[in-house]
Amino acid sequence: MVMDMKEQTRLFEMAQAAAVNAYAPYSKFKVGAAIKSNTDKFYSGCNVENISYPVGTCAEAGAIAAMICGGDKKISEILIFADSKELITPCGACRQRIAEFGDNDTLIHLATKNGIQKSYKIAELLPSGFAEF
Ligand code: THU
Repeated sequence: MVMDMKEQTRLFEMAQAAAVNAYAPYSKFKVGAAIKSNTDKFYSGCNVENISYPVGTCAEAGAIAAMICGGDKKISEILIFADSKELITPCGACRQRIAEFGDNDTLIHLATKNGIQKSYKIAELLPSGFAEF
């Protein structure tokens, strides 16, 4: 089910608040993500970097971890927020993470401080993704 305005605002505000708490001393690039699950619960996460650079985790990974910890398994919508001029899209690994817990209808919203700028479905961001073996 598509979000109403109140839910959309909540998702945006959660992602924006998560970005404030991001730990990004190396890149100085703070990202927040917020998820609405298929059970209408909301979760958020931020990027958490590490002095050993590859150990850092993306905001999307944090939000997904919070969702799993909260007992949900399906992403209905995910919003990714960065206070940047250029719109950012999830990295390859996070596209795979979103695919794991999304379906054909899952929406990925990309937002700056001016709000949602673009929305995608996972098949657009991860065509021919690894889904079965
Ligand atoms: N980052 C995210 O958290 N999500 C994205 O979608 C893109 C990049 C983080 C990873 C790293 O901490 C910083 O942004 C710079 O790449």
